[in-house]
Amino acid sequence: MSDTKAKIFLDVNRTVSEISPLIFGGFAEHMGRCIYEGIYEPASPHADEDGLRTDVMAALRELNFSIIRYPGGNFLSGYNWLDGVGPKENRPRRRDLAWRSIETNQFGTNEFMKFAKKIDTQPMLGVNLGTGSIADASALVEYVNGTPGTYFSDLRVSHGYREPYGVKYWCLGNEMDGPWQIGHLDMDEYARKAREAAKMMRWQDPSIKLILCGSSNTQMPTYPEWDRVALETCYNLVDYQSLHYYSMNETDDTPSYLAQSYQFEDNLNTLEGTLRYVKAKLRSKHDVFLSWDEWNVWFKNREMDGNWTEAPHLIEEVYNLEDALVVAQWMNVFLRKSNVLKIACLAQIVNVIAPILTTTDSLVKQTIFYPFMYFSRYARGNALDVFTQAPMTETKQYGGVPSLDVSASHDPATGQGAVFIVNRSLTESIPVDVVWQTGKPSAVEAVYQICGTDVKAANTFENPNQIVPQKIDGVQMDGDTQTLNVPPLSFTVISYKG
Ligand code: AHR
Repeated sequence: MSDTKAKIFLDVNRTVSEISPLIFGGFAEHMGRCIYEGIYEPASPHADEDGLRTDVMAALRELNFSIIRYPGGNFLSGYNWLDGVGPKENRPRRRDLAWRSIETNQFGTNEFMKFAKKIDTQPMLGVNLGTGSIADASALVEYVNGTPGTYFSDLRVSHGYREPYGVKYWCLGNEMDGPWQIGHLDMDEYARKAREAAKMMRWQDPSIKLILCGSSNTQMPTYPEWDRVALETCYNLVDYQSLHYYSMNETDDTPSYLAQSYQFEDNLNTLEGTLRYVKAKLRSKHDVFLSWDEWNVWFKNREMDGNWTEAPHLIEEVYNLEDALVVAQWMNVFLRKSNVLKIACLAQIVNVIAPILTTTDSLVKQTIFYPFMYFSRYARGNALDVFTQAPMTETKQYGGVPSLDVSASHDPATGQGAVFIVNRSLTESIPVDVVWQTGKPSAVEAVYQICGTDVKAANTFENPNQIVPQKIDGVQMDGDTQTLNVPPLSFTVISYKG
């Protein structure tokens, strides 16, 4: 192989795991303009009969979210869910201490359920383990999933929602390891509270799946000890352990930033080891998987003070080309680690560190919109254990790294496949041979590419199409091989027919 050429080898028998559809999730928090002015804005010309933004919902449908986590985030830890149900005129206006904002409670659990149904996604609800009690958590499960005939399920019926919702996924608090969290707990306290909440919630509805709070990020002094302690106390009662992380390029070191897939993979490997350790220590037959239920790029906009206003503009990060390439790598890692990662939620879905920004009458799709859209559209069936040979790129933080970051999927039921390629080199265009060693699909269906020469180029309301995907023609099956060129700073998706 010449040292400027790359080869990607695919074998449909060499798989990592089945891809969990829940890795294409999102996160909606009562923060800034995510809910109010994002999802819900009765005054917008785009509002439907429920006050939900039809233009936003159309864009979210393109992203094909399989699950959305709600209502927070740090907001969750001070939230009384009873404030957000029942007649809207009776709902209290409250101070939200997490974001120093005013919460009107005009949007709550039932409104969220309606929204989730309209965009055809599955809800993932959080219970407040900060100021909330284990009894509040249990009551919420009864309110949401209980059959009519008892107090909280009848309360739901009296609010106009007779049928139990059957919500399956429930988070046991949010980032409880963080001193910034309302009602922050130390690891033993959290572990015990989560265990007791889990018991009550399961007694309410044995069919639910529970997500335990893991470390907020890898920089926490308690990482990964927190994860071990929480798991050892709750292992057999829970189904997933959460992790959160936000990527940054604070020193403007683009080559290192574009190699952050190493960090994401390392984080998952450490926690995979922790899960295995605890399972072995407890001699358990049960499996717990990982839920990366907050992930994204976030470092440019740190405005987190709502100054006691409604729907303030908080952390409305503007994303550029390099951010989109990091998001694409993140999703490559999700596929490569699909044996242990079963849920992931892009944080957040509208306005607040989000793929979509809105004004009252318009929206813009940010650069990160597109990689997410292609993964959620094409990554189906099994993640393949890809073998890649590629030229190297130098980085300050990680040393030499391969210029290409790659993942691939193949659906044995349909024969459909997809390959996702990030070229992280700032300068080198790379000729690539994609070689199907077994299970060659019948034809290339389409090739899409996002690229540019300016890593800082972003889509704005004034210029919304700076970074949009291009369709690339002429890539064909030549025997088992397809040859194409991936430009520097690019993300390429090849989708195949079965
Ligand atoms: O997504 C924004 C905030 O980041 C969330 O509220 C919190 O969980 C995390 O620290």
